[in-house]
Amino acid sequence: MCGIVGYNGSKRAVDILLDGLARLEYRGYDSAGVAIRDKEIEVFKAKGKLTNLKEKLQDKELKGTIGIGHTRWATHGEPSEVNAHPHVSNDGNVTLVHNGIIENYQELIQKLGRHDYKLYSETDTEVLTNIIDYYYKKYKMGPIDAINRTMVRVRGSYAIAVMFKEHPDELWVARKDSPMIIGEAEDGYYVASDVPAILKYTNKVYYIDNLEAACLKKDKVIFYDLNGDEVQKELKEIKWDVSAAEKEGYEHFMIKEINEQPDVVKKTINSFVKEDGIDLSATGLTVEEIKKFKQIYIVACGSAYHVGVCAQYVLEDLTRIPVRVEIASEFRYRKPILDKNGLVIIISQSGETADSLAALREAKNQGVKTLAIVNVVGSSIAREANHVLYTLAGPEIAVATTKAFSTQLIAAYVLAIQMAYVKKKIKDDVYLELLEELKTIPDKIQDILKTLTTKIQRLSSKFAGIKDAFYIGRGLDYAISLEGSLKLKEVSYIHSEAYAAGELKHGTISLIEDGTLVIGIATQEEILEKTISNLVEVKSRGAYVVGVVPKNVDVSKVANYTIEIPETNKYFYPSLTVIPLQLLGYYITVSRGLDVDKPRNLAKSVTVE
Ligand code: BG6
Repeated sequence: MCGIVGYNGSKRAVDILLDGLARLEYRGYDSAGVAIRDKEIEVFKAKGKLTNLKEKLQDKELKGTIGIGHTRWATHGEPSEVNAHPHVSNDGNVTLVHNGIIENYQELIQKLGRHDYKLYSETDTEVLTNIIDYYYKKYKMGPIDAINRTMVRVRGSYAIAVMFKEHPDELWVARKDSPMIIGEAEDGYYVASDVPAILKYTNKVYYIDNLEAACLKKDKVIFYDLNGDEVQKELKEIKWDVSAAEKEGYEHFMIKEINEQPDVVKKTINSFVKEDGIDLSATGLTVEEIKKFKQIYIVACGSAYHVGVCAQYVLEDLTRIPVRVEIASEFRYRKPILDKNGLVIIISQSGETADSLAALREAKNQGVKTLAIVNVVGSSIAREANHVLYTLAGPEIAVATTKAFSTQLIAAYVLAIQMAYVKKKIKDDVYLELLEELKTIPDKIQDILKTLTTKIQRLSSKFAGIKDAFYIGRGLDYAISLEGSLKLKEVSYIHSEAYAAGELKHGTISLIEDGTLVIGIATQEEILEKTISNLVEVKSRGAYVVGVVPKNVDVSKVANYTIEIPETNKYFYPSLTVIPLQLLGYYITVSRGLDVDKPRNLAKSVTVE
């Protein structure tokens, strides 16, 4: 949602803050600001992208070695300089940046009003800043007391970095639900919403839990719990290298991450598929537990939800136990009836998506076992789930997910195959055959990237001006068409719909006319003829049909253009068909001259409702 960064050390803070914010802009980019402390605390804010703030600072002599910064995705109060962070308390005692939402801020405005506080912005964050100041002045017990009293008093989610006028050498941080990491380096201490912001300076980080705080001094960091008692934290090492957060010569992070898929898919497969089979011990899931599961629920948002739809087909077909796939923002308020012998699987790249986190808590409140498939180590969903299956996609910067999606598919296959094997639904030969074929997927993705990228780039230029597009398929092909359609609309802003091919004739086919782009995915042998006859239906109404099919399938009679992918096992086709669909979304967007990595109105991880 928003990105926060902070520094207290021996270097010029402004350079570190601007660099960190640039790496967090995928979290929100409608306004930005920094506060730098030298003799005084100076605050600088600008509406719009970070470049506007950089322009404002370029001729400023800012020597301060302590500071905080913020890049915003507005929730309370429209994008403006006044509403941008950092916010300052009435008399300048407290300066703060915040990622999250204060839900009871209206009520707190009343409270502040009774104590003569005046507010200059429409933000919940300015309210939070003054509430900290209020407790600081009322109890005179210093920063940790003021922060802890505030954490007890406010409701919502927050990661905050705070500077107190009367504590010139200290940078204070605290969090609840919103992500935060604290970095330790020779030159000082860093705080940020996400790893890419500080990876350039250190890969040594601390994680603080919900309702915990810390004081970052130039030479040490002290952690506190809600009682104000000091707590110890373990220093962890991030295995990602800084280049992972750089573009490495690609024009956009999205195309870089598309081309990283063979490598990260291989890494994720190898992390679970060993010589003698699948090893899920790292997840903590036991054979006994797996045997007990009678029902599976998959809950997620966005593209992660589409992984869930793919997983449903594979899990049910292999394990023969019922699987329900749910959109997290619906699941959390639907008072779902969950089977106690069920397993709730939460899929999330960031591990911080608020609706998915709430769905996880709903399942735990009902006493149902939870498994998180997550890409960010130490994220909230990972830490709160009973079991965690980490994907190894590395940092994903582009707002539209690609490589994380592909590693989540692998996680779903591995889970389905192992569950089916443990439940004796498949025999050794099928088990080993599936694993052998799974190991071929990285090379097949590489082959697609090598042979099809330029072809799809050329094809995409034909569609730069289209208004609508349809993606159709049956079974797993329908599941992946959901993702193909989202990949196009979320970055190109072209209206696009995915449809179960057999359902089209019950209404939506009325939208098909001359030249309407229809992407038909046809890989599932058992229902191939059915899918091809649906392609004939749209073709006969004038559609321009692009067929995405395995090499052994001929749709040349119905398709205007055929995209051929390598053959594989029926369960694994989503991992291959999604690649040309990602490339189509990317190149059509590039041909429209749009900002591929930071599409309008979107953010990489939505940590509010
Ligand atoms: C959206 C992202 O904000 O959140 C999507 O733009 C993503 O790409 C969705 O699929 C869910 O995010 P996550 O981190 O829970 O997988």
